[in-house]
Amino acid sequence: MKDLEFYFQDALKNGYAIGAFNFNNLETLKAICNGSENTHSPVLVAVSEGGFSYIGENHILPMVEAIRKEHKKLPIFLHLDHGKSFEICKRAVDAGFDSVMFDGSSLSFEENVKITKKVVQYAHKKGVFVEAELGVLAGIEDTVNANEALFTNPQKAKEFVEKTGCNSLAVAVGTSHGAYKYKGKPKIRFDILEEIQNAIPNVPLVLHGASSVPQKYIKIINKFGGEMSGAAGTDAKILSTCAKNFHICKINTDTDMRLAYISTVRKHLAQNPKDFDIRNANLLAIEEMTKLVEEKNRTFNCENRVK
Ligand code: G3H
Ligand code: 13P
Ligand code: ZN
Repeated sequence: MKDLEFYFQDALKNGYAIGAFNFNNLETLKAICNGSENTHSPVLVAVSEGGFSYIGENHILPMVEAIRKEHKKLPIFLHLDHGKSFEICKRAVDAGFDSVMFDGSSLSFEENVKITKKVVQYAHKKGVFVEAELGVLAGIEDTVNANEALFTNPQKAKEFVEKTGCNSLAVAVGTSHGAYKYKGKPKIRFDILEEIQNAIPNVPLVLHGASSVPQKYIKIINKFGGEMSGAAGTDAKILSTCAKNFHICKINTDTDMRLAYISTVRKHLAQNPKDFDIRNANLLAIEEMTKLVEEKNRTFNCENRVK
């Protein structure tokens, strides 16, 4: 099986991005791996700090190891998403993660460099990949513009990568986390993205906050007892351009998986008020999330990339 470094370089060379999907339970993990197997796409299964404590540190690796046994030919890489301290990154490395993200985006440049470097030194000794972040993603419900988002500075990015030795870099170019990304139209700063990749041409870049917030899910949620008016995300076309024409080699999705899951469960329970067996709703949710992952992998130009 080829390693993560191979796939990132392959993605950089051939214009695709590897999907990184967050999971917090077995149902979601199964759907991520079923969908990626169906499209023959290498995949990162990501656990946030919140997921780390929700699932429980001791359960994560056994879950992933079991799923690997069911998908023997699929490269499944376990990734820590938004680790905010050296300590949590170290715990993930020690637990057997393949990749960790140290997110020092809220720190000063110097402090971010210092801790990222420490994570790199520790992780690299064990062959673990390190993603770092420079720049700040816009907050939920912000209309992204230069006053509200601290876009990644291309020259600083070069200095940052040289000083830290990180393997990949998450950039702030206009996306934001969550289900309420834009009030108007999405404004992605492709000009800044281009400057970043010109400054660090060999570094795989990562796009966070990349969910599209499909309106079909929002409609179902609103119809069956939820309230998510005004939810909006990043068009699939933008994501596809980032993967094909820019150096975005990893695209993170969490919100869209949550929407697929919750909309399916809400609809099923509303239409079957007597059903109190959660497996029925969960099976439908796995099916819906599997289709979503397949669609994402196609959007990311990551179909048929398993070597
Ligand atoms: O980027 C953040 C992810 O969506 C993780 O969210 O901290 O609620 O698990 P979470
Ligand atoms: P979304 O909220 O857009 O799915 O972003 C997920 C993410 O960036 C996880 O790190
Ligand atoms: Zn993120």
